[in-house]
Amino acid sequence: MTNKNFTTNFSVLSEADLTEEQATLINRAKMASEKAYAPYSKFQVGAAVWLENGEIITGNNQENAAYPSGLCAERTAVFYANAQYPDVPVKMLAIAAQTGGKWLEKPISPCGSCRQVLLETERRFGTDIQILLYGQDEILLIHSAKSLLPFAFNLTE
Ligand code: THU
Repeated sequence: MTNKNFTTNFSVLSEADLTEEQATLINRAKMASEKAYAPYSKFQVGAAVWLENGEIITGNNQENAAYPSGLCAERTAVFYANAQYPDVPVKMLAIAAQTGGKWLEKPISPCGSCRQVLLETERRFGTDIQILLYGQDEILLIHSAKSLLPFAFNLTE
């Protein structure tokens, strides 16, 4: 028997550590969360995607009375970006969430389905996506979608 393990490298940042680009993207994710349609969970998530051509695309969670029909902020943003710019890699993604009018103190991290979609976007363009998870107390920077999804499903590997 051989034991193996995965490691995930990530950085813990404060607002003061952010580059101008990162701060802008987080700000856009926060702004996007204001427009979320989340009447059921009251949990408003915003996502902002920075494309290699300099465009910023934003999205937010879109809920539905038939709960599973809703979509997370991350996939709303990434699918829209890929639909509009099928040849442009995604460089960076920022996520911010609020509930009851307050930003979360600890960051949230993308759900399994969003991770799978982010991974596909990464593989499709061959470019790692920097993922910024905003929380009031701390901001996490994860250096690729791959590192968020060990043992990912993949048809081609
Ligand atoms: N949600 C997101 O949009 N992104 C996440 O990373 C986690 C969860 C949404 C789905 C649902 O509308 C609400 O947050 C509560 O789960």
